Amino acid sequence: MSPAIARTRDELSALRDALPGRVAVVMTMGALHEGHAVLIREARRRVDSVIVTIFLNPLQFAAGEDLDRYPRTFDSDLEICAREGADLVFAPTPDVVYPRGEPDVRVSAGALGDRLEGTHRRGHFDGVLTVVAKLMNLTRPDVALFGEKDAQQLELIRHMVRDLDFRVDVLGIATVREDDGLALSSRNRYLSDSDRKAALSLNKALTAGSASAGQGPGAVLAAALAVLDTEPALGVDYLALVDSETWDDCTEATTVARLLVAARVGTTRLIDNVVVDLGTRAG
Ligand code: PAF
Repeated sequence: MSPAIARTRDELSALRDALPGRVAVVMTMGALHEGHAVLIREARRRVDSVIVTIFLNPLQFAAGEDLDRYPRTFDSDLEICAREGADLVFAPTPDVVYPRGEPDVRVSAGALGDRLEGTHRRGHFDGVLTVVAKLMNLTRPDVALFGEKDAQQLELIRHMVRDLDFRVDVLGIATVREDDGLALSSRNRYLSDSDRKAALSLNKALTAGSASAGQGPGAVLAAALAVLDTEPALGVDYLALVDSETWDDCTEATTVARLLVAARVGTTRLIDNVVVDLGTRAG
């Protein structure tokens, strides 16, 4: 069955009030793919009612980034929402979300917001957290699901929910990949055939890094870097191994880490990450 569609705050409020039981939200910027479908499916499995938000948030794009060319595929987004059993789609325009223009007051992502992705996308996470906070207030969910591909975003959303006392459970859902390992992303649509081949090096690097977990953090980074170095079409923004709890750089004492990479392929910027278990080391 097709989901109800709300375009305005009043429509959302009335339709949200009518939803039965526990409610989950899956927030998206549109251009839905199987990764989003899995989030909606997981939400469907866990609660009574599912809201999907489709909003291309200008606040999280810096000047010169890909806001203008970001894929807009509303009809097929709606088909995916219907197929996966979403009850309600909130698809506002920017003037509905930001009626007075860009907000003066924003959520600050704090120190972690300035590292890794934040170094290359200044202000990005403040823009993400501001819209996530607004969409949480507007949709009033019990549960919110986000993909682990955007691991730093997920971590910062958890920080915001904890530090600002949002009453919502945040669930991270494993990254969905193509058969050859490429992490699904709305931005994969930009890739030419040769870009796509080069983009596979991201996952290959993460896999090589994980395979060296037994030799410690230095070996993990060296193995991943060796793979990235073989692909001249990649412009690597960062490769980092962080403690998965604290997000500080990994030390010899870290047992579970996250290996993260960001790189440009042609005009497309891609990110990926995996958890690396450093717990059992070769002596
Ligand atoms: O991950 C995304 O698609 C966006 O950053 C989000 C969480 C929907 C906020 O605009």
